[in-house]
Amino acid sequence: MNLFDQKKHMLVLFCSPNPHGSTRRLLDSFMEEFKDRVDWRTAEVNAYELNAHPCTGCRACAKKEKCTYDDLDKFDKELRKCDLLVVASPVYNDSFPSPMKAILDRTQRYFEARFSLGLRQPIKKHRDAVLLLTMGREEDFPLEVTAHQLQRAFSVMNTTLTGCAVWDGTDLGRRNLGPAQQKARALALEILKEP
Ligand SMILES: Cc1cc2nc3c(=O)[nH]c(=O)nc-3n(C[C@H](O)[C@H](O)[C@H](O)COP(=O)(O)O)c2cc1C
Repeated sequence: MNLFDQKKHMLVLFCSPNPHGSTRRLLDSFMEEFKDRVDWRTAEVNAYELNAHPCTGCRACAKKEKCTYDDLDKFDKELRKCDLLVVASPVYNDSFPSPMKAILDRTQRYFEARFSLGLRQPIKKHRDAVLLLTMGREEDFPLEVTAHQLQRAFSVMNTTLTGCAVWDGTDLGRRNLGPAQQKARALALEILKEP
């Protein structure tokens, strides 16, 4: 750990295949509040580029605190050091797109570290997390599903989902970012108020 690094770390997990789509616009609204904040440093991971190997249920992580596949080692390092995790994702079939679902399944290593290896806190440092979600229709169910999936995984990752901003109805022609943008900004301001 660098003792001189006083900055807070944000890790953005961007889960849309579209670099300039709805999800990026919602994320931009959130990030706008951080743009002049020199006390924050941001790293962004693109779930599609990361292309995590699916969990194969080999249970190696139940015997040793590691994963059979090393493709998420760098992500694991970033995750462990971040103070804030931002998951920005579109809804696909009421859930996350498959690259993000693969990452979620791979968090099994923390579950096994907690319950098979008996580590009380598989990830030492605590962080808050926010979910920025876009979806074509106007429904409550996808937020229930995705927030539940995150909360499940986060329960062994020392991570607390503290807020969500949803831009729904993106495929309905109206495409009114306004309310979701306000919510995303409000979430960011709330985080920035914290000491
Ligand atoms: C494969 C696929 C599945 C989708 N499934 C849903 C869905 O279940 N519910 C929904 O409301 N929108 C669904 N959508 C619409 C996207 O969530 C929506 O268009 C989103 O805003 C796209 O974000 P992007 O512009 O960042 O790609 C789906 C889109 C695709 C391509």
